[in-house]
Amino acid sequence: MPATDDAAPSGAPDAAFRLPRTVEPRTYRLTIAPDLAAATFTGTVEIDLTVHEPVTEIVCNAAELALAEVSVEGPGGTRLDATVELDEAAERATFRLSDPLGAGEATLRCTFDGVLNDKLRGFYRSTFTDQSGTTRTVATTQMESTDARRAFPCWDEPDRKAVFEVTLVVDEGLAAFSNSPVADEAVEGGTRRVRFAPTMKMSTYLVAFVVGPLEATDPVDVEGVPVRVVHAPGKGNLAPFALEVAAHALRFFTDYFAIAYPGDKVDLVAIPDFAFGAMENLGCVTFRETALLIDPATAARTELERVALVVAHELAHMWFGDLVTMRWWEGIWLNEAFATFMETLCVDAFRPGWEVWVSFGISREAAMALDDLHSTRPIEYPVGSPAEADGMFDLLTYEKGCSVLRMLEQFLGPDRFRDGVRAYLTAHAYANTVTADLWDALESVSGEPVRAVMDSWILQGGHPLVTVGPDAVTQEPFAYGPAPAGAPSAIGDRWQVPVLVRTLHGERVPPGATERHLLGPDPVPIPPPPADGGARVVNAGGWGAYRTAYGPGELVELVGRLADLATLERFNLLADTWALVLADRAGPGALLDLAAGLGDDGDPSTWALVVGALTLCDRVVAAADRPALQAAVRSLLGPRFERLGWDPGAGEGERAPSLRALLLQALGTVGADPAVRAEAARRFDGTGGGPIAPDIESAVLQAVAAQLRPGDYEAVYARYRDPATPQEELRYLNALAAFPDADLAVRTFELCRSDEVRTQNAPYLVAVLLANRVGGPAVWERVKSNWDELLARFPVNSHSRMVEGAKALCGQRSTSDDVTRFLTEHPVAHSERTVVQMLERLAVNTGFGERNRPQLGAVLAGAGGAAGADRP
Ligand code: BES
Ligand code: ZN
Repeated sequence: MPATDDAAPSGAPDAAFRLPRTVEPRTYRLTIAPDLAAATFTGTVEIDLTVHEPVTEIVCNAAELALAEVSVEGPGGTRLDATVELDEAAERATFRLSDPLGAGEATLRCTFDGVLNDKLRGFYRSTFTDQSGTTRTVATTQMESTDARRAFPCWDEPDRKAVFEVTLVVDEGLAAFSNSPVADEAVEGGTRRVRFAPTMKMSTYLVAFVVGPLEATDPVDVEGVPVRVVHAPGKGNLAPFALEVAAHALRFFTDYFAIAYPGDKVDLVAIPDFAFGAMENLGCVTFRETALLIDPATAARTELERVALVVAHELAHMWFGDLVTMRWWEGIWLNEAFATFMETLCVDAFRPGWEVWVSFGISREAAMALDDLHSTRPIEYPVGSPAEADGMFDLLTYEKGCSVLRMLEQFLGPDRFRDGVRAYLTAHAYANTVTADLWDALESVSGEPVRAVMDSWILQGGHPLVTVGPDAVTQEPFAYGPAPAGAPSAIGDRWQVPVLVRTLHGERVPPGATERHLLGPDPVPIPPPPADGGARVVNAGGWGAYRTAYGPGELVELVGRLADLATLERFNLLADTWALVLADRAGPGALLDLAAGLGDDGDPSTWALVVGALTLCDRVVAAADRPALQAAVRSLLGPRFERLGWDPGAGEGERAPSLRALLLQALGTVGADPAVRAEAARRFDGTGGGPIAPDIESAVLQAVAAQLRPGDYEAVYARYRDPATPQEELRYLNALAAFPDADLAVRTFELCRSDEVRTQNAPYLVAVLLANRVGGPAVWERVKSNWDELLARFPVNSHSRMVEGAKALCGQRSTSDDVTRFLTEHPVAHSERTVVQMLERLAVNTGFGERNRPQLGAVLAGAGGAAGADRP
C-alpha cells in the first residue's frame, strides 16, 4: 500500500524543512578529492533530475560548502547558465537559472569545496597514531541525520532516493571505500582515481566515503556476498569475531526477511574517531573501534556481546532502513526500534546461552524509567529541524520502540509477525513508508487489530500500571508523581494492553495455561487466585511494556515463589516494585525483601536492578548510616558472589561472568567489602599471578579505585595510554573516572578537555564523573565554568550524554537546585528535551532521598539482618 500523507499520524511535515518537490534527483555522479594533510576536499557533482513542472530556480541542501561553476542542461541538451546562492541558516543552495527550465529530464552540474572538520559529522577528519608513532589521518563520513549536505550539495531528505556513482581521487598510497564495489581505478602521477559501481536507489543519509592509510581483511564469502573488515594497520588480528558475526547475521536476515542482501558487498569499517556506536551506510558500515575490533581471548563477555549486537544491528538496517526507509524523521523510531529488535533476535540465535533477550530487560527498564517521567514523549513524534531529527535518537526510539515491537511479536506469535514484516518489506522495497504501512501489513497477515493496539503505544507517551484485583485487571497511567507545576504531561491516558495471565498453583500441581486478553479502558475479568494457595502472574512471560501492581497478599505469595517465575517475570517484579518505591507507593523495604529472596538467581539483569537501587541509596543516605548501607550490600550480594567465586567454575552458565563482574564491582565499591577489596588489589598488583581475567578486569579496577591507594591513579592512567586492545583502553579510561576523590575526578575532567581523551569518549566520561558520588559536585563546578568550551568541543549529538550524568547529583537539595537553575539558564540546543527529562529525574532521585533519609539506615539494617539470617 502506498504511503499517503493522511497516513502520517503526526501531521504534514514542516515546509520550512522540506525542499520543493518540483525537481527530484535520480542519479548523482560525484567525484571527490580529499586532501588529508590540508584537511580540505574538492568535488564535482552531476545530478540527473526529473523536472515535474517548469521552474526558474532549483533548490537543494548544502551547508559549509563553497559552490562554483554551476550549469544546467535541460531537455534536448539545451545549456542554461545559472548562479547559486547559499543560505547557511536554512542549509540550502538556490540555483537561479538564466531561462526557465521546462518539465522533463535535466542535469545540474557544479563544483564545490569544503573543510574536513573535526566535529565527527559530514565529511570529517579522524586521526590515529600508527605503529611507528606517526600521526595518520583518515577522511570519513557520517551523514545521518542531515549532514550529507555538508559533504556535497543534495536533496538531503530520506524520501529523495537516488542512485550514487562515486569516484574518489586519492593519494596513491591510500585506500578508498564507498557503498559499492570498485568498478575500476587508474593511477596517474601519484594519484589514484577509484570509481565505484552505481549504488541501488537509496537515501542521502546512507552515502559513505572513507579514505586513509587503512587495511582490509581478505573477504569472507557469505552466499556470494564478500564481507571484509577495514581497520588501521596492525589490527587485523582483531577482525575475525566481527566477520563471524557478520556472516551469521547476513544469513539470518536473508532467511528471516526472505529477501536477498540488497547491496553488492559489505565492508565493516573501524574508524578511530566516531560519534556514535556505528552507522548503517549501505555496504560500507562504519563503527567506533570498540564496537567492531575485538580479540575474544582478551575480551569480556559483555564486550563480545556488544560487538555482536552492534554488527547485527547495522546489518539488519541493510533491509530495514536502507532498502525500505522512513518517509521522514518522525518515523526514525521504526528504523531504530526494528534494528534493535532484529539485533537481539539475531544474536539470540547466534549464541543462545547469552540470553540476550533477558539482558534486553535492563535496556527496556531504562526506557520505562524515562517513560515514567511527565517529560517523556510519544515514540513517534513530529520532527522539523535537523536538531529535532538528531534529538530523536534516544531510549524511547530504540529501547521503548523495541519493547513494544517485542510485545507485539509475542502477542501475535513470532511466525505471523515475521510474515507481516516480509510482506511489508517486499511491498516497499527501494521506497519509503510511514509507520501505519507496517501495521497494515501485520494486520492483514494476522487479522488482529494491530493498528489500533499499536497506535496507543506509539502515539502517546508513558505506559499503564496494570493493577491485579481479586477477579479483574484494570489500568491507569503510571508516573513517579504528579506533573511538576506548570509543566504539561506527555503521559497518555489509556492503552490497548496485551495482557497474558498464568497461574502458579499450589505445590505439586502443574502450571496452568496462559490466558490472552486485550485490556482497554474497562476492567477485564481474570480467574481468582487458586484456592489451594499460589498466585497469578500478570504479564506472563514478561514481554508486556507496562508495570504491574499486585495486592499485598498475592505479592507475598509471589515473593515466596520467586524461583517458579520465568527470569523476566522475576525481573519485572523487582523493576515494578522499585518504580513503585520511587513513586512513593511502597517503601524501599519492599525492594530489599525481594532482593533478599533472590537466593541463587543467576540473572545479571535482575541483580543489576538491585545494585542500581542500592547505588541510589548510597547517593542519598546520611553519612552516619553509610555503614548500614555497606552491610546491607554485603549481606544481599555477598553470599551469591561467594557461590560464584572469583574464577570461572567448571560448567558454569554463559551469563555467570557478567554476574560475577556485577557483584564483585558492587561489593568492592558501595559494599566496601574488605575481602573483595583486598583480593582486587592483589590481582591488580600482579601478585595474583598474570593478567586480570578480562571478564572481571573493569570490576577489579573499580574496586581498586575505591581504595584510593597512592599511585593507583597513575598506574591506571599509564595503562590507558598504552592499551593492547580498544576494549582495554576503554576499561582503563572508565576507571580513571571511578576514584572517589574530588581532586582525582577533576584531574580526569581536565583530560576530557585535552587531546588525551578523544572527543568521541569525553562526553561519556564527563557523565561518569558527574555520577561519581564524591567527585561529582566538584566536576559539576568545572562543567559550569567551562560550559561553552565543552559544547564547542564535543560532537553536538553527544551533548545530551554529558548532561545525563547530572541526574546523579541528588545527594543534596542545594546541588540539585543549582543543576536545575544552571541548565534552565543554559539551554543545550540539540538536547532540550533530554535536559528537561534529566532534571525531572533528578527531582525524583532527590525526592526519594529526602523522603527516605530519616529511616533509611534502619530499613537497610533490617535488610542486612533478613538476608544475613538466610545465609548458609
Ligand atoms: N543509525 C544509527 C546511528 C546514528 C545514531 C546516526 C544517531 C545518527 C544519530 C545506528 O544504526 C545506530 O543505531 N547505532 C547505535 C548502535 C546500535 C547497536 C544501537 C549507536 O551508534 O549507538
Ligand atoms: Zn540503528
